[in-house]
Amino acid sequence: MNSTPEADWLNLLIGLLQGGQLQLLRVLDALGLARHVHGQPAWPWAHRLSGENLVIDLGQARSLAWTLVFVALVVLALMLALLWRRPRFYFLALVPMLLIAAPWPEPQVVLVPATPTSFQSSPTGFTAASIAKGRVLYQQNCVACHGADGKGEGPLAASLAVWPPDLSGPLLWRRADGDLLWRILHGTRDAQQGGEPTMPRFAGKLDEADAWALLDYMKAQGAGQSLRALGSWPQPIGLPDMAVRCGSHPPRLLASWRGQRVRIVAGGAAPAEDPRLVTVLLRPPSGSEAPAADCVADSAAAWEALALITGTDRLAGTHFIADRDGWLRARGEPGKAGWSDDDLLCRSERASAATGQGAAPPADGLGALIARMDAQPVRFVKGGFIH
Ligand code: HEC
Repeated sequence: MNSTPEADWLNLLIGLLQGGQLQLLRVLDALGLARHVHGQPAWPWAHRLSGENLVIDLGQARSLAWTLVFVALVVLALMLALLWRRPRFYFLALVPMLLIAAPWPEPQVVLVPATPTSFQSSPTGFTAASIAKGRVLYQQNCVACHGADGKGEGPLAASLAVWPPDLSGPLLWRRADGDLLWRILHGTRDAQQGGEPTMPRFAGKLDEADAWALLDYMKAQGAGQSLRALGSWPQPIGLPDMAVRCGSHPPRLLASWRGQRVRIVAGGAAPAEDPRLVTVLLRPPSGSEAPAADCVADSAAAWEALALITGTDRLAGTHFIADRDGWLRARGEPGKAGWSDDDLLCRSERASAATGQGAAPPADGLGALIARMDAQPVRFVKGGFIH
């Protein structure tokens, strides 16, 4: 989202940490050295390098970046010492000097506790069907403590030693998905009160596919709650995937258009085709009229998922725009003609500061919106990793 030189090197550093650890896990797995837990290779250590603290603590991030440079120099010196006999002594003497001179960051900032599933990612593809499955499981297993709206005010909440957190806030976006999965399946313990269980474990009752579906549902629900409370989506939310039929072609998943912008029109008649977007008409669950668009999605689950993400039970007439990466960026409310800057619900802080105050609405609202969306792609940091 923002592109200051500082953000660029920090993005690069966080990307390197994440990529490096993922590759390490893949290599361990390829060598048969990684156990498989919940369907994917398990992280074998109790800690991992993390980006979440680095985003906050730039000084430590800088130390870590320099330390990586020093370590690279150490590797180079060792290689030269191997290859080049005569000055070998000097190269070897450089190694301890470099290691001492490196500005090692504080371990407690760079290392965070890991779970075996820390590096696992969701296999669901954030489909409408998965969100619908999560909804049922949530009602059955979680609502008593976490409440229907996820704010932690279920009927059992007051009787617990620890109050359940607000799942509609940034929590789900702060944690790595794999860590959330682990907590749902294995419960949580209180660090302060001698490791007493705070949330029960669900492994045995639910499997990993259930837990991934629950995460999809909770994210969709959190987005809807944010929109109701704040009027925006402060945490990026994807467009739920659904099957789409265009003309007489066989149905294909919306995700297969990734790389193009997508406009979803919930009910009614689709507006004129626009070459800048793929337009999909989402038919209402009870709708029987003939589809008035080239591309149509006929999915009650998708209707429900978008209603949840928008925090409304009156979705008919709402338009949505997703960007080329599949993030939901803008919503046009029912009955509103044209697009304006206010419809951009997922934006960067810098962008909102940069909008001109009192500027006249541009003639082509949609064009202006698209230009902004493209110029400011979502930089999504989750669990300290950029996604
Ligand atoms: C008996 C009450 C109870 C039930 C049932 C329950 N939770 Fe929790 N949940 C809690 C409490 C209490 C916490 C806070 C734990 C803590 O911070 O130590 C929590 C925390 C969480 C968190 C945040 C974990 C984190 O990383 O901080 C998630 C996610 C979560 N619950 C999901 C679920 C899901 C999904 C279900 C249903 C499958 C569920 N919970 C069922 C009580 C419950």
